[in-house]
Formats: sequence, C-alpha cells, structure tokens
Amino acid sequence: MNRGPLFCEVALARRIERAEAQLMAAAAEAARLRRGGDAGFVMRVADGVATFAEDGSPFNKIAGLGFDGVPDATALDEIERAFAARGAPAQAEVSALADPAVGALLTARGYRLESFENVLGLALDGVYERVSPPGIDVRVARSEELDAWLDVVADGFAHPDGQGVPSHEDFPREVLVNAERDFATAGVVPYIALHDGTVAGGGSLRVADGIAQLTGAATAPAHRRRGVQTALLSARLADAAAAGCDLAVVTTQPGSRSQQNVQRQGFHLLYTRAVLVRGVPPMGAVPHLEASVESPDEVSVVLYDGPREALRPLFELAEDSPTQLDSYLADGQVLVALRGTDMVGHLQLLETSQADTFEIKNMAVRPDVQRSGVGSRLVRRAIELVSRESGRRLLVATAAADIGNLRFYQRQGFRMRTIERDAFTTRTGYEPDTLIDGIELRDRVWLDHPLSPRSASDRSSQGT
Ligand SMILES: CC(C)(COP(=O)(O)OP(=O)(O)OC[C@H]1O[C@@H](n2cnc3c(N)ncnc32)[C@H](O)[C@@H]1OP(=O)(O)O)[C@@H](O)C(=O)NCCC(=O)NCCS
Repeated sequence: MNRGPLFCEVALARRIERAEAQLMAAAAEAARLRRGGDAGFVMRVADGVATFAEDGSPFNKIAGLGFDGVPDATALDEIERAFAARGAPAQAEVSALADPAVGALLTARGYRLESFENVLGLALDGVYERVSPPGIDVRVARSEELDAWLDVVADGFAHPDGQGVPSHEDFPREVLVNAERDFATAGVVPYIALHDGTVAGGGSLRVADGIAQLTGAATAPAHRRRGVQTALLSARLADAAAAGCDLAVVTTQPGSRSQQNVQRQGFHLLYTRAVLVRGVPPMGAVPHLEASVESPDEVSVVLYDGPREALRPLFELAEDSPTQLDSYLADGQVLVALRGTDMVGHLQLLETSQADTFEIKNMAVRPDVQRSGVGSRLVRRAIELVSRESGRRLLVATAAADIGNLRFYQRQGFRMRTIERDAFTTRTGYEPDTLIDGIELRDRVWLDHPLSPRSASDRSSQGT
C-alpha cells in the first residue's frame, strides 16, 4: 500500500497526548497498588496528568498538557511540591503542537529544556501482513513467559544501539522491570520474539481510543540485525489493525535506530515533545554550609543555586510590588529552608555599598509553616554566613505597618535604626491604600544587627 505522509494537526496530537496521559495514569496507579500506601501519585492537571511511581521511574512526569487550557499556578505549585517531597524533579513532556503558553509558563517557573523525543505515527487503514524472517516467531507472551520477557526488554534497554541522540535519562534495571510489570497490570500486552526457540526480543501494545500505542521494544544484543524488531512491529500492527485501530504511535529518541526502523515500516514523524525539567534544589551544594537534616520532618538550611525564577512564589510573599521584585530577584545569595526536599522558606542576602554591611532583601516562610521557628533558622544561618564573610552588620527593612515583622526581627536581635517615610508609594510600584493590620502601608523601618567578626581559627574549624 502506498500512503502519503501522515499529517498531524492539533486535533490528532490532542488525541495522542490524551492516550499518553491515560497510559501514564494507569501505569502509576498500577505502581501505587504494587507498592501500597501513598508513595506514588496520580494528579490531574488541566487536560494532562502528573504521575509519580517510584524513585527514578520513567512514569515520573507531567504529560498531556496544552490541548485544553493551561494549568493554573496553584495546581503546578501542588504538583511541584509533590515531586520535591519525593526528592524527584518535575519533568513535563510537552508536545510541539500544545498551546505555546505552556512552554512559556513552565520556563518562567524555572523549568529547563533538557531534551526532545519524537512521536511517530502510522495510519492503519488496512489489513496488515505479519512479517517474520525465517527462525523468528512473535506472539503474545504467556503468563509463564513474563519473567523472560521482562529480562529481555530490560537487557535491550541496558544496551542502547548507540545511534542518534543519547537519552538524558538512565533507568536502573530494577526500576525498568517494575515499570514493565506495571504496564502489564495497566493493560499493556507483552509480545515476545523467539529466535530459533530462544527469547530474542520483546515489545508491547496498548489499544486505547482507536490508537495502538507501541512501547518497550527491545532486542537482546546477541539477536540484533536479524529482523527481530521488524517482526515484533508487524505482529503488533497486524493485531492493532484487526482490533479496529486507525492509528499506531511510537515514541523514540531523535535519530535513533528505533526511529529509523519504524520509519522503514512506514511511520511518519508527527511531532516532537520538549522535555522540560525543574530540578530539586541540590542539597549541600555549597560545602561550607553544612545541611543539617536530623529527620525527614526536620528543616535544613542550604545555599540555593537553582533558577531564581523558581523561587518567585516565595519572594512574592514578602514583596507586594512586581516591578520592585523584578529589579532584585536575581541578585545576591539565597538561603532556602528545606523540610525533606520541600522548599518551605528563603532568605535573600545582598552586599551593600559598605563592604562590611549586608542586607536581608527578601525573606519569607510558607504560610502553613510560619511560626514554627523556620524564619529564625534562616536568620541565624544568614548571620553565620555574613560573619564568615567578615561582615560586621546585617540590615533589614520592613513596613512600619507590619507589626508582626517588627516583632519577628526584634526577636532575632535586630534594633530599629531609621525610618524612611513614604517609601511604599505608587511611584515605587506599590498599590495605593494598602492596609496591613488596619495600618496604611506607607513608611519603611530600617533595622540592623551588629555582628561580631569570627576569628580565623573559628572559621577554619567549620571545615570547608
Ligand atoms: C516574617 C516571617 C519570615 C517569620 O517567619 P516564621 O518562620 O514565622 O518565624 P519564627 O517561627 O521563626 O518566629 C520567630 C519569632 O518571631 C515571632 N513572629 C513571627 N512572625 C510573627 C508575627 N507575624 N507576629 C508576631 N510575632 C511573630 C514568633 O512568634 C517567634 O517569637 P518567639 O520567639 O517569641 O516565639 C514569616 O512570617 C513570613 O514569611 N511572613 C510573610 C513574608 C514577610 O512579610 N517577610 C518579611 C519581609 S521584610
């Protein structure tokens, strides 16, 4: 049959992405049942889904965004917190045909473009012949063959074919085996290829909404270049066409042998997915600040070296003026308070025009964690850090109207120094008539905290 290239319009991409999101949800749910408890999660977000199965799993991702609205900030906050709480980065796989607002939104939140993957498709509009070179036999794996099937698929993945763009991910074998088992629970059908009676390769097929999703194709290294993958593909296409599917899809690494193989079988590139990742702040990234994690509930304070934009929601808790915030968000050093891997507070420290004077420019603690000592921990660490850098004075400014903040800083040892009248005006980017506890936001109070310089021996005993 001679087919022209399959053209992928937005509606087709929406259908494929929806099927992908459903598959991830079903697989992560299977993982949750396997592991018990609430270690994993499946969270709906706009028209997509965020899933976590276990450490390092290929099911830890956000899929299907951008075809029916854009996720709101609160939903993304919740998802990012859920990933961070499990020590996992948030990884969104976004179709090139998704609403471009999704990419803009994620990058503004500090997601970084890590890689791409290709989605290829084949219109199934006829009866497919199975192609099997002599000696190669492909069929649905029997339940007693599942372990052998898992082995061969895991082996195949452990030995990539070395063509094309290498994957930015590397899944441990045990995690891959678990993922394939979860796929099977989620209704993905395993196909096994035998070469002269020996297990030579495997692949799988899931049928949903008329789409045949082909996953997990792998050939054991000793049986490569004998047509095993072609045979596996043709058997699954034949079964999918017989089951009434009008489309088969497969995801590959760009330029890989898998992509070449499926293109030889008539698949066309439909679209690329951008893989956008927002990392967990690295723990103890700076050696001179020892992270002090006593228990998972305990708070540790570390220097942050991730993207600043990712901290914007925390900074906004302490800055009412977006223009002001834009002018200093990227400056200085930032300490973050982590509970487990959940970011619960921050403190930004700037140098001033006076060499021995530093300023706390912005600090905040997540509202649900306030009044539990996190703010004090951050200030103590800031004082330590400034002392080590031979600072003699720490400054901070807050609104005269904010009685709570004035109490907080004085409890940390700060004393009032000067008052700057009418600092918070529309001219400096603040809304008029803002009240804090019934007091008009108008004047700024400067407070300072004198620091005693540490001796050289003191400094070296901290270990670097
Ligand atoms: C100000 C802020 C950082 C304090 O953090 P925190 O983790 O709640 O502070 P802690 O729990 O360590 O509190 C330390 C002391 O300050 C007191 N304190 C903290 N916030 C207070 C408030 N709003 N009103 C009165 N006292 C307060 C605590 O009661 C505690 O006092 P204690 O030692 O007598 O028990 C936090 O409330 C916050 O993020 N606020 C919103 C953002 C903001 O305004 N930032 C400051 C910009 S200048």
